[in-house]
Amino acid sequence: MRAKARCNVPGGDSREFPAGWCGAKTGSMTDERKKVWVKSYGCQMNVYDSHRMADALAPEGFVETADIADADLVVLNTCHIREKAAEKVYSELGRVRALKRERAAAGHDTQVVVAGCVAQAEGGEILRRNSGVDLVVGPQSYHRLPELLRQARRTPGVVDTDFPAETKFDVLPAASREKTLARGVTAFVTVQEGCDKFCTFCVVPYTRGAETSRPVAAIVAEVERLAAAGVREVTLLGQNVNAYHGEAEGSGAASLASLLRRLAAVPGIARLRYTTSHPRDMAGPNGDWELVATHRDLPELMPYLHLPVQSGSDAILAAMNRKHGRDEYREIIDRVRAARPDIALSSDFIVGFPGETDRDFDDTMRLIEEVRFAAAYSFKYSARPGTPASELPEVPEHVKTERLHALQALVDRQFKGFNAATVGRTVDVLVEKPGRHPGQLGGKSPYLQAVHFEDSAAAIGDIVPVAITGVSTNSLTGERVGAERTRMSA
Ligand code: 5AD
Ligand code: SF4
Repeated sequence: MRAKARCNVPGGDSREFPAGWCGAKTGSMTDERKKVWVKSYGCQMNVYDSHRMADALAPEGFVETADIADADLVVLNTCHIREKAAEKVYSELGRVRALKRERAAAGHDTQVVVAGCVAQAEGGEILRRNSGVDLVVGPQSYHRLPELLRQARRTPGVVDTDFPAETKFDVLPAASREKTLARGVTAFVTVQEGCDKFCTFCVVPYTRGAETSRPVAAIVAEVERLAAAGVREVTLLGQNVNAYHGEAEGSGAASLASLLRRLAAVPGIARLRYTTSHPRDMAGPNGDWELVATHRDLPELMPYLHLPVQSGSDAILAAMNRKHGRDEYREIIDRVRAARPDIALSSDFIVGFPGETDRDFDDTMRLIEEVRFAAAYSFKYSARPGTPASELPEVPEHVKTERLHALQALVDRQFKGFNAATVGRTVDVLVEKPGRHPGQLGGKSPYLQAVHFEDSAAAIGDIVPVAITGVSTNSLTGERVGAERTRMSA
């Protein structure tokens, strides 16, 4: 008897057809061959979420494709942090709608999903601005994706921007071992989400909701699965990751420091990182500076700290509701450097916040000169709807532009100086991928610098000592100088 398969039919239902007929009869493919194309905008948490959405769709028969023209399902995982980021989504949606029409003319259905922070912030407005969108889904509802897609197949134009009582982390399926391996030997794991700080410029408390932390046991289980598939380095993610206070494995709440110590004991995990931290949470809930001490005591914790300060002016920090001043930030940096003198520091800066004077901006430049950052991300202030700062008069655009250029020139000099200071040193490199040329490998130093080096013996996932001999614009070059510290199979 000829094998049968369930095929999608217009209207969102499915019927039984002889295997192999689905594409021809209905214009859509069998469930086994459905393809999803996911694009991530913005932060690393969106990259993690995109993976988890793809994992949630895998049991539904979706495989990922790199070719949007092939996709039965297009997911844009969006960012709302600045106006430019949000507007990018609408121009992409214009192109996606045109593609959807072309595919429809060729007999193929395409579902279009807008996920992420623009979805959360703008909800049904997205459907009004672009008729090609089938589903708008906020960051807390990804575990409902399969059900929401079925609903949207019946009636396109579904919006789910709830903050449900059940957490997505309890329900989202894990990636297969093969998929994990294909994603590489470094991985992100969200441990904390949301923010209660309410900086006056920021949409995150509205789009990601109140701060919540995942229990230690759930994170350990996820990291053990990743390690078993070959992951060597895990970056713990959270909008306020150092405010982490998840349920401990025994009783009570665990700190980020204790979580890091626990994860360092997972076999196979060689490196840990975390991002993004808030200066106010560096001292810890008991003021014991446990996290700073962990940078001294835990070899698996890499010497890198991303600690956004946003501005070096006390007046602007107060207007931003950052809840600390420039001296407090300097004191934190001093403590961190005392614990781990070689640590690489990075920060975010906003220029042209409402009311920022030349003097305020000079304070920021002086702070940068005093601290010396290994890297920094800088942005022109962008008024976001609904935030308190959006009510204030703006600094002229040309002033923002001048300040951004000056600040970026300074941090670029510091970035280059930090890299140049690595020349002549030997650093451990986690091998992540083949290099630009045959026989070359690429990976990262403990300080998150990209390193390329010649080596035909090392494998992806090995950690090898590399003598740094040169710098190019954005990376270091070097030579392998000894036996690997740990092998992939360790
Ligand atoms: N305008 C400009 N930059 C912003 N950021 C957050 N909100 C805004 C805004 N409204 C920056 C901050 C933050 C980073 C993720 O994005 O520097 O740390
Ligand atoms: Fe936004 Fe401030 Fe929260 Fe960071 S701490 S996510 S900048 S509100």
